[in-house]
Amino acid sequence: NWTTRNILEEQVERIREQIGDARVICGLSGGVDSAVAAALVQRAVGDQLTCVFVDHGLLREGEAEQVERDFVAATGVKLYVANEQKRFLDALAGVSDPETKRKIIGREFIRAFEEAERAIMREAEAEGEPIRFLVQGTLYPDVVESGGGEGAANIKSHHNVGGLPEDLQFELVEPLRTLFKDEVRAVGAQLGLPAEIVGRQPFPGPGLGIRIVGEVTEERLELLRKADAIARAELTAAGLDNEVWQMPVVLLADVRSVGVQGDGRTYGHPIVLRPVSSEDAMTADWSRLPYDLLARISNRITNEVDGVNRVVLDVTSKPPGTIEWE
Ligand code: XMP
Repeated sequence: NWTTRNILEEQVERIREQIGDARVICGLSGGVDSAVAAALVQRAVGDQLTCVFVDHGLLREGEAEQVERDFVAATGVKLYVANEQKRFLDALAGVSDPETKRKIIGREFIRAFEEAERAIMREAEAEGEPIRFLVQGTLYPDVVESGGGEGAANIKSHHNVGGLPEDLQFELVEPLRTLFKDEVRAVGAQLGLPAEIVGRQPFPGPGLGIRIVGEVTEERLELLRKADAIARAELTAAGLDNEVWQMPVVLLADVRSVGVQGDGRTYGHPIVLRPVSSEDAMTADWSRLPYDLLARISNRITNEVDGVNRVVLDVTSKPPGTIEWE
């Protein structure tokens, strides 16, 4: 529509003015904001932009491919992928405490991002064009929340794992700074981004690392990925993506219960469904999903995911419960 087209052209013009001939980099998380910010900058300055995707191995099924294949196909962006799955698993080995997991993931993410950044900078400098700008997907509500000043990007990026280092050497480009989430989605659609990226529900930076209650292992990640993919597919098939703000699927890796499956007794893990409705994630209520949908999800997960013999529903509002379990 007209308004989105105006926003788009206006932003593209502004970005060109700000960046000029310089080089710019942008981290992609798989989420909407960074994707739309990157696509806008790409539209404005083309190959002066290099995107960095640190794959920490904690994304859900299909999400890394969405970035590496679909996003690149839609935008033609130059992408640097850092495959760091092993690094994160190693760093998380033996750790169950939620805050410690978050700290480790945040720390490793910043390190991995900086390493990627240095590799790209070496290349750029060899070509005589150092990188001067860093793109951030800061939205208007983030700016308001943090008082609008210079610190705005920092607060957001602290929350979004993989944020800015303290000694920032780049000037920031924030093309979404005046936009609300729905406008960002509209601009993304206008830019031709895939619906799966533009319509994506909120997902925490530390990813599945904080949806496994207990130690994070490759085996547990695989199990949770399968369960989560089933729950998401069924929610979408029921046409309820827009009713539900987000639906964390959580593996209680340290809990086991007795079940009976096939020929015998099992001793497996529970999967928790945490569908919530919310306006802004500050408060939330549990979503009253239809029983037949819950039944389908439960049947499929217990039938199709080895090691899971029970599916439970979280019926806690926020407060007192947070949306995530960790
Ligand atoms: P809680 O669990 O605090 O979550 O009710 C509120 C919202 O924030 C998301 N969340 C995060 N997002 N990095 C993020 O980018 C994080 O570390 C993080 N932790 C929670 C959560 O999914 C929900 O939308």
